[in-house]
Amino acid sequence: MSVLARPLPDGSGAPTVTALAGAGKTSSSISLAAGLARKNKKVLLIDIDSQANSSKVLLEDYLSIPSQEIIFTTIIDERPLPVRESQVPNLYVVPSHILLSETDIRPNSANDHREARLKRALDKIRDEYDYIFVDCPPSLSWLSLNAFTAADKVLIVVAPGYFDGDEHPLQ
Ligand SMILES: Nc1ncnc2c1ncn2[C@@H]1O[C@H](COP(=O)(O)OP(=O)(O)OP(=O)(O)O)[C@@H](O)[C@H]1O
Ligand SMILES: [Mg+2]
Repeated sequence: MSVLARPLPDGSGAPTVTALAGAGKTSSSISLAAGLARKNKKVLLIDIDSQANSSKVLLEDYLSIPSQEIIFTTIIDERPLPVRESQVPNLYVVPSHILLSETDIRPNSANDHREARLKRALDKIRDEYDYIFVDCPPSLSWLSLNAFTAADKVLIVVAPGYFDGDEHPLQ
């Protein structure tokens, strides 16, 4: 599942979704984000998938990013979003990491409104960007709910296969 958020001129945001694994969420997020950046828009891509595919593509130093500088620190520890410059001019990335796969099982005492952690962190910086995308994992979880809560538009990426639609009716 992937979500993309886009701040509109009136200050509201916007995003993207699909529950289909391998449908092209990450490819779409990277392409849209990089394309807009090349058109001189300031773009932020937030990777909340523990596979970290967006992060690996866009950040040359991905392997050396300290564990306290990934999206995990915002979702679990409620710290500010760790924004990094990507190798594409005007495109910034909040990286993910395999550590993020722990977020659904890690004990956490503050369970109230934990679906709004990304939104709370994003609200502090969203005015700095023309577009914000959130690339989601291929499963429904409270990470995905964080993306939906932060976003005001959802883009559904669907592979045009008969069984894809049959197994995952979009309602
Ligand atoms: N438009 C396209 N045409 C052909 N192949 C594509 C297209 N978009 C993506 N792919 C390929 O499909 C595969 C899955 O793409 P991608 O990783 O973007 O999907 P995803 O929905 O993010 O997957 P996941 O659910 O694992 O996060 C990749 O190998 C990618 O190169
Ligand atoms: Mg993906």
